[in-house]
Amino acid sequence: MDLNLIKNTAIGAAYKSAEIINNFSGKLTRVSKKGPIDLVTEADIASEKNIIAEIRRRFPDHEILAEESGLNQTGKSACRWIIDPLDGTTNFAHQIPLFAVSIAFAVDNEINVGIVLNPVSGELFTAVRGQGATLNGTAIEVSRQKDISESLLATGFPYDVKQMLDPVMLRFKQCIAASQGIRRLGSAALDLCFVACGRFEGFWEENLNPWDTAAGWLIAEEAGARVTDFSGNPYDLNQKEIMATNSHIHDELQSTLEI
Ligand code: IPD
Ligand code: CA
Ligand code: CA
Repeated sequence: MDLNLIKNTAIGAAYKSAEIINNFSGKLTRVSKKGPIDLVTEADIASEKNIIAEIRRRFPDHEILAEESGLNQTGKSACRWIIDPLDGTTNFAHQIPLFAVSIAFAVDNEINVGIVLNPVSGELFTAVRGQGATLNGTAIEVSRQKDISESLLATGFPYDVKQMLDPVMLRFKQCIAASQGIRRLGSAALDLCFVACGRFEGFWEENLNPWDTAAGWLIAEEAGARVTDFSGNPYDLNQKEIMATNSHIHDELQSTLEI
């Protein structure tokens, strides 16, 4: 498998989607709801259609798991693409320029390529397994900070947060007390990439879906991050908890998240 061809296909599709998304900016005519606070816009749908068409053109046998259209199983290949056509839809709908196109490629359930593109800032994060991670072509690595009290953390709130406010707020409170500060960007893909390039020392969230984390997970690990569940077990895409750190503060963040 030519992983460079895969990476370039993903990057090409993401840039095309970025253009599609930017053309919708400030011009949305319809914002629908998948749940009480879970939005989907014309831009999400158009971006996903574009990415699927680009992949299908080159790799008709590959399986595709995409947020808005679900799993397209061909039964012919161990290769699977995992796509979030617009991660950070709520930000996009409110014209906050923090959202991303996220595309990952897996063989036999192992992610081998991940790319995350912010259509507004133009920041492109990429990783190929075993080859490190980059931001706009330059190698990136996690922060070297060893002390959680000097660390900037990030988290997100799942769409069912109102059904689990107590544990979410307790963890939030404990992390505020332990750290330098907390940010809530509104895009899990960018949160993971920000850990990868050293802007955040740590990130945690629960109830994310595979398309939210697949690309950012590889980018973070390739930049030196440790990615587990809240108990320190290795992360996988079916896991409901994710904790990604620069590795140095991992144990401290893990004990801070204990409730
Ligand atoms: C959401 C974002 C957000 C996270 C939510 C996700 P979407 O993805 O990643 O940061 O807190 O849990 O569902 O719906 O904008 O693609
Ligand atoms: Ca998402
Ligand atoms: Ca999305």
